[in-house]
Amino acid sequence: MKDHKLSKDMPIGFMDSGLGGLSVLREAVKLMPEEDFIYYGDSKNAPYGTKPEEEIRRLTFDVVDKLMDRGIKGLAVACNTATSAAVKLLRIKYPELPIVGIEPAIKPAVTNCKGGKILVMATPMTIKQPKYHKLLDRYSDKAYIVSVPCDGLMEFVEQGNLDGDELDTYFDKHLKPFLTDDTETIVLGCTHYPFLKHHIKRFLGNKNIELIDGSLGTSMELRRRLGEKDLLKQENAVGKVEIYNSTGEQEMIDLSYKLLNMPEE
Ligand code: DGL
Repeated sequence: MKDHKLSKDMPIGFMDSGLGGLSVLREAVKLMPEEDFIYYGDSKNAPYGTKPEEEIRRLTFDVVDKLMDRGIKGLAVACNTATSAAVKLLRIKYPELPIVGIEPAIKPAVTNCKGGKILVMATPMTIKQPKYHKLLDRYSDKAYIVSVPCDGLMEFVEQGNLDGDELDTYFDKHLKPFLTDDTETIVLGCTHYPFLKHHIKRFLGNKNIELIDGSLGTSMELRRRLGEKDLLKQENAVGKVEIYNSTGEQEMIDLSYKLLNMPEE
């Protein structure tokens, strides 16, 4: 793969364990409408967030190799779980390729914190990883941060269930026990969760809690890294988005475009 030559004309690759990374792609398209994007969702092997690290690495490398074979000029690992398990090794394997990962947006949450509690919703695997603990260590003396493992939540998005009683039952069990009067911010630390923002807000009712995620920050970093290598297209170009899914099901592709075009809350 050493002779992979990067050029402006190539698309930018995006990967996720499934459809979650589309919440990041949505921001990237807004920031760089002139670019072509190629998105690969590994829904067949989802969820990643409850699998052992080794397996997540193997799956992530398989997807990235496919994107590299197709020819990409940059890569967004639009999955917190895959980022924590594999981004370091991806950078070693593809040293020339601009690669950005995503991590729970704890930094902005702490920066804007007015003294209340910060909850971080993420997959069990993200929460277990040393990368996440390092991130927590960096901010734990500046704010009270509590991790909320959300196994089983990404599945709602994969099935296109963005609303309904079952989600309320889920949040009653997994989120409510962590909610206290001083909860100020919830960090959506898995790229699937921004698609549930509307429902989470409704679940929280009149509590004044801010929901934040890292999709804009990651997209800005991606643009910066591509610009640094002079790999950005002319601003007057019109880009396109191609979506692939490992299930091979048209239904998943249709759902992907629906999520991508879903207006943000
Ligand atoms: N979208 C992925 C993330 O950001 C995780 C979902 C999964 O468990 O596969 O962590």
